Amino acid sequence: MTSSSSETFRSLLRRRLSRRTLLRGSASVLACSTLPASVWPQTKGAPFGFARVTASREDRVIVPEGYLSDVVIRWGDALTAGGESLDARRVAAGGLLERGAAAAQARQFGFNCDGIGLFALADSRWLMCVNHEFPIPDLMFPGWAEARRNRTRHELVRARPGTVAYMQASVGVSVVELEYDGAWGFRRDSRFNRRITATTAMQFAGPAENHALLAGVDADGPGRVLGTLCNCAGGTTPWGTYLTAEENTDDFFGNLEQAELPSGLARAYERFGARARESIYRWEFADARFDVARTPHEPLKFGWIVEIDPHDATQPIKKRTALGRFKHEAATTVLTADGRVAVYMGDDQVFEYFYKFVTAGRFDPARPERNRDLLDTGTLYAAKLNEDGSGEWLPLVWNEHPELTPARGFHSQGDVVVYCREAADRVGATPLDRPEDVAVRPVDGRVYLSCTENTERGEGDAAPSVGAHTPGSDAANPRAPNPSGHILELIEDAGDAGAMRFRWEVFMLAGDPRAGGLLAALPRTGDLPLAADVTYFAGFADPGKLSAFANPDNLGFDGDGNLWIVTDGTQPGDNNNGCFVCPTQGEWRGAVRQFMSGPVGAEVCGCTFTPDDRTLFLTVQHPGEGGSVEEPRSHWPDGGDAAPRSSLIAIHPEDAARKVGE
Ligand code: FEO
Ligand code: CA
Ligand code: CA
Ligand code: CA
Repeated sequence: MTSSSSETFRSLLRRRLSRRTLLRGSASVLACSTLPASVWPQTKGAPFGFARVTASREDRVIVPEGYLSDVVIRWGDALTAGGESLDARRVAAGGLLERGAAAAQARQFGFNCDGIGLFALADSRWLMCVNHEFPIPDLMFPGWAEARRNRTRHELVRARPGTVAYMQASVGVSVVELEYDGAWGFRRDSRFNRRITATTAMQFAGPAENHALLAGVDADGPGRVLGTLCNCAGGTTPWGTYLTAEENTDDFFGNLEQAELPSGLARAYERFGARARESIYRWEFADARFDVARTPHEPLKFGWIVEIDPHDATQPIKKRTALGRFKHEAATTVLTADGRVAVYMGDDQVFEYFYKFVTAGRFDPARPERNRDLLDTGTLYAAKLNEDGSGEWLPLVWNEHPELTPARGFHSQGDVVVYCREAADRVGATPLDRPEDVAVRPVDGRVYLSCTENTERGEGDAAPSVGAHTPGSDAANPRAPNPSGHILELIEDAGDAGAMRFRWEVFMLAGDPRAGGLLAALPRTGDLPLAADVTYFAGFADPGKLSAFANPDNLGFDGDGNLWIVTDGTQPGDNNNGCFVCPTQGEWRGAVRQFMSGPVGAEVCGCTFTPDDRTLFLTVQHPGEGGSVEEPRSHWPDGGDAAPRSSLIAIHPEDAARKVGE
């Protein structure tokens, strides 16, 4: 980081406020790190000092005037000094099909960056953990798109098993040391740099550690756990570890239809499965581990929260089974009033649930070793959101709830976490519209949950039958269908993350506020469902001051309590995904402004600030998605005819930058 004279996000924004406003708010500015809403300019028609970014379809990252975006590290950048980096101009010529490509990728930054975790080292140095969610073979291998059209991808994989080895090396997590010298980059020679892939050895811990279904003797031997998959978002712990969330892991396993499953396994597949025939990536044609008929226990080894110590590669990587098995999106940690640790987690599928885990033990900042296995013991809860705006956390505790007993087929807490979705069904949790990321407002612990979309939610004859549910609209999911997504706001009792009860309301119904109508207030009951294109921006009622957006995914907060939102989905006007921000308090509460626009085909992920708010880190995932090696849609960030490369980027005020060599 630079000296303290560098300008921060906060100071840049403040400088652009009117002098009068600043004078009025200066006492507050000095008094605390969080700007009260009263210092937002009341008359200028904008809550922030930056000029709103116009939604775009350009193949580039756009940030407001006065800010810079640095490409910190790209897919294929070597993580070792002297290591070989990807030549993105050679992907179309089959560079990734050559001998040694997979081994090289295992030492390079991975593909499709998603969630990130930032960790301070001594001496103003930083470690970053980055998830690599899934491969896109159409953008990696010549011939894949044609094989897709010809339905011969299995033949391509059999003929070229190196494609699977490459994809397995491209996913997982990267740990990389960052450096800042006027612009953000990474240190190739850092001893911390490492890759965790689909084949890295790890362990189970917690109530399902020795569960018979996880210890099944498959291709890898009893109890062996290899790799982490579909790492979406995640979180960081107060003791400096990274939590990576395994999400759509069912996409990676094929041939379920051919598997002969004992009843316990069949039950697990009912609520979190595998592909009936071919998997999305066809790995099963080169690696038996991904063929359910041959290794039926293997899929159950995925769908967990995985804890990684970025500071110490000798520490085992552990899948924390106490936090349940589902399509994990987030793992947002916050301390409870009595010093325990709460972890908020979304299960990103239509009609799935919002969860919270609270540790039994307290965080001990003085003795780090005592925190090491804190996440193995505690209580897992699923959220019930009542129509009247009250809510409760329903404990998923074996043999306490009458539905979670041996009579119902739950013989241990291990069963509860393995059959977690079923357990939440049975206790009556509230099915939500794809609950994704969670952010907690720093000042007061208010909880914000993205529900990214649900086009399957319907009414009457259109009501779907999904698992145990046939849900129509309800107060927490008021649009049916809900193509643009919404954000919920929860207030735990007494602001304590350890509470058993909460209040909640809809914070935002995303979409284009100028297209389908902008509500100033929401009906809690009656008059539901709302039309799919009706929007609500926390009561902010001036559509001309709002940026349209859809499909909120990852969320973050700056130190001033502004909510930062990144998107993943079809945006209004078919524009590119981006990053948006709004105040969560005061007159400008809900006034969303676009801050960044991503390149073609990409979703924007990450969304983490340095503690001083000088830098916002985002990731750009799957630029060029929908295209192929032969028919590219994006060349970001290298330009020319280079293959698109998912990357970590850093956005910071221009004034803070000192160019190297100047
Ligand atoms: Fe991987 Fe829920 O997005
Ligand atoms: Ca994604
Ligand atoms: Ca996501
Ligand atoms: Ca998403």
